[in-house]
Amino acid sequence: MDTTIVIFGASGDLTSRKLVPALFSNFRKHRLPEHTRIIGVARTPFSDEAFRDRMREAVAGVASGPFDETMWTAFAQSLSYLSGDGGSPEFAAQLALRLAGSGHGPAAVVYYLATAPDLYTRIIRALAGASLLKESDGQGFRRVVIEKPFGRDLASALALNGDLHEVLSESQIYRIDHYLGKETVQNLLVFRFGNAIFEPLWNRNYVDHVQITVAESVGVEHRAGYYDHTGILRDMVQNHLLQLVTLVAMESPVVFEADALRNEKVKVLKAIRRISPEYSARHTVRGQYEGYRTEEGVAPDSMTETFTAIKLHVENWRWQGVPFYVRSGKRMAEKASEIAIQFRRPPTQILDVAAGRTELFTNRLSMCIQPDEGIHLRFLAKVPDQGLQTHPVDMDFHFRDSFVGTPLPEAYERLLLDALNGDASLFARSDEIETSWEIADGIREGWESDYAPPLERYPRGSWGPAAADDLLGRDGRWWIHDCTPHGTAGA
Ligand SMILES: NC(=O)c1ccc[n+]([C@@H]2O[C@H](COP(=O)([O-])OP(=O)(O)OC[C@H]3O[C@@H](n4cnc5c(N)ncnc54)[C@H](OP(=O)(O)O)[C@@H]3O)[C@@H](O)[C@H]2O)c1
Repeated sequence: MDTTIVIFGASGDLTSRKLVPALFSNFRKHRLPEHTRIIGVARTPFSDEAFRDRMREAVAGVASGPFDETMWTAFAQSLSYLSGDGGSPEFAAQLALRLAGSGHGPAAVVYYLATAPDLYTRIIRALAGASLLKESDGQGFRRVVIEKPFGRDLASALALNGDLHEVLSESQIYRIDHYLGKETVQNLLVFRFGNAIFEPLWNRNYVDHVQITVAESVGVEHRAGYYDHTGILRDMVQNHLLQLVTLVAMESPVVFEADALRNEKVKVLKAIRRISPEYSARHTVRGQYEGYRTEEGVAPDSMTETFTAIKLHVENWRWQGVPFYVRSGKRMAEKASEIAIQFRRPPTQILDVAAGRTELFTNRLSMCIQPDEGIHLRFLAKVPDQGLQTHPVDMDFHFRDSFVGTPLPEAYERLLLDALNGDASLFARSDEIETSWEIADGIREGWESDYAPPLERYPRGSWGPAAADDLLGRDGRWWIHDCTPHGTAGA
């Protein structure tokens, strides 16, 4: 069947850095449907030729190996461009003409909204007005992929879902969280539900606590204008970090299908204890890196957080009493995304271990999303020839060693294919988005109340403010950082 991908925002950063490179990579792997064409849409005028040149330059710029000119020439024939205001009825009429002209019979269309979010509703309404979203039997699907951010709080997410549901069924909507497209994130599901030996330990009886870190070494860069009105709670926690919490905490779905999977994730989100203002004062931390206020595009008195650490509770039978500490920040010491499952101590200590903190908590599992993509399992070993002296050691799995010659694909490759194939497992459903906003809004309300924790300054290139260490220190715990470019750092 003829398939068309219409990208709104085709002159923008996401299209050139991620979307077209991912589509090209899928094309090279012969994974795109036959007769796929890609129409780029934005207001800036380009001829088809100029658009292709621009995309060629972008794709060559991000290619890891030599650029495949022959494949590009074949791929480029599928690229075209249509300039106009994507939210206007006139443009939608023009697009309808372009879509009608393919001539291979029934046609399927994916509309990818890679514009600023305030355009989403206008674009959808214009498409609906031109009957471009209507699915009729045997005539091919109409799907809409929507970029993040999906709303900026619960009220706006509800409003956007309301607008979408006026003209689309939920099964036509693909809300993207590119974190879920990462191989290492999907591997969490394989690790948990494809292996029998860990699941019996995966609960309050054996797990002391869980930590999730998503740290970036860069600052706000060219996104300052957007970022200063957003902050890390909205930009990272509401979506990526809460998604990771759901994947760690969820029950096994009965089948590996979108709704079964998403039902289990929503149950976790619903089980997360809502954060009261009083709680936020003691169990959340917000920080801002030094020099943030002098970045171009940032208000000189900005109170926007570039770091947060939060202690969450998943209140169900499996996790009652097991804290989930999550943290995320910009201008951190390293770029690292990792999940640490810290197991309880042995019930009695018969060995003569040094009373160092590492030895007290011998077992942990670290899942490295990036860098050093892989998994480490830490346990205690006997130091040879030193009596009964012990030392923690690691059993390591690295994707790069076990799957030599198979580089990890970009998240967008997988997600674009899933949208084409109608698999919404790795996309967020409306109730999932709304529930995660409810949690984030609770934290935000605490930060806007009389109980707000202070906005702590932290040095660039650090692991955030000291208050984040105190958050765990008060519980007799400390932050773990196992995923370094060279393997386990240990902590
Ligand atoms: N960049 C990333 O890495 C990234 C990552 C995650 C999520 N996202 C999300 O993806 C979306 C796009 O991000 P971006 O970084 O690519 O932004 P961007 O570089 O500012 O691009 C925005 C695009 O929208 C187009 N546009 C604006 N008004 C339009 C209109 N009325 N009709 C048609 N096109 C219009 C712009 O082109 P014209 O001015 O020529 O019309 C431009 O192509 C945002 O929602 C962002 O949050 C981006």
